[in-house]
Amino acid sequence: MRGVGVLEFGGPEQLQIVDLPEVHAGAGEVRVRVHAATVNPTDTGLRTGSRAVSMAQIEPPYIPGMDAAGVIDEVGPGTVTSLAVGDLVMAMVIPGGSHGAYRESIVLAADSVVRAPEGVSHAEASTLPMNGLTARQSLDQLSLQPGKTLAVTGAAGCYGGYVVQLAKADGLRVIADASSADEQLVRDLGADVVVPRGNDIADQIRKVAPSGVDGLADGAVQAELAVGAVRDGGGFASVRGWDGTGERGIIFYRTMVRDYDHRSDLLDGLRQQAEAGAITLRVLATYRAEDVAQAHIRLEAGGTRGRCVILF
Ligand SMILES: NC(=O)c1ccc[n+]([C@@H]2O[C@H](COP(=O)([O-])OP(=O)(O)OC[C@H]3O[C@@H](n4cnc5c(N)ncnc54)[C@H](OP(=O)(O)O)[C@@H]3O)[C@@H](O)[C@H]2O)c1
Repeated sequence: MRGVGVLEFGGPEQLQIVDLPEVHAGAGEVRVRVHAATVNPTDTGLRTGSRAVSMAQIEPPYIPGMDAAGVIDEVGPGTVTSLAVGDLVMAMVIPGGSHGAYRESIVLAADSVVRAPEGVSHAEASTLPMNGLTARQSLDQLSLQPGKTLAVTGAAGCYGGYVVQLAKADGLRVIADASSADEQLVRDLGADVVVPRGNDIADQIRKVAPSGVDGLADGAVQAELAVGAVRDGGGFASVRGWDGTGERGIIFYRTMVRDYDHRSDLLDGLRQQAEAGAITLRVLATYRAEDVAQAHIRLEAGGTRGRCVILF
């Protein structure tokens, strides 16, 4: 069975097709014939070895990939699940060694897998689990009541876009950043107010929310540059583990989507929101497994809108 991974950490050229042993679902598990896997910033980090320390005891190949969509082709003995062989599904994958989504076949805990949204392609379905759950987690951490104001940086990105849409569905007022080229995109996602992106983001947000926003989801990882937009005692959600400055009673949250592994209840909620049209699934381009390096190069160049997806 084919996968795409690295034997040695490094540049995109290190990505190669690898032959992996057949896997089978055990108790509490299902096996998914993967047809689509997204390429996310975390995958390039795995490829370059930024997490090499945590993988020191694990033999290569190291297979990246945190989103999979495909078809269930095996249900483990005694597994209690509403899913059946032949169902179109999607899942978040927590990579470890050769267990990443860039592979033709993967065994997952049944409670990490849900049906894919009706009527969408495998590629579209694969864009939802990891970033959708991350956006959901940031909003759950900030825990803002309807009518409160949320600011989103990196709103044109995958995480930021889902935050904007989920926040609107939660009844929040959303102030989002965008370049002039992305302004319409971010408006179409539902932002109430769009401000220019940049290093003066805190001032730009304060211009439209003079007392500061109740919460901020920092998809652009602007940290110190963005925190000034938050009101005294508000909340700040960091996707890169920034613990903040401790200033003005602001509560800093570390959004870590791994904490939402096995949350098929939440992922199924996202499925329903996608089916209802509240969430837009954005595919930028699809790639053959042989061409994954090109997808990594494209993501690392910046400016991608929508996700690059590998098809198996
Ligand atoms: N902790 C977790 O569990 C978790 C889970 C998912 C994602 N993440 C992290 O969340 C971040 C966003 O991920 P993503 O997939 O949404 O990435 P993405 O699709 O590339 O979106 C990032 C957005 O931020 C913009 N941006 C980057 N630097 C900026 C700056 N200095 N000023 C203004 N805008 C800037 C990007 O614009 P350009 O494309 O023009 O640069 C893009 O629109 C990444 O750091 C990712 O690793 C963390």
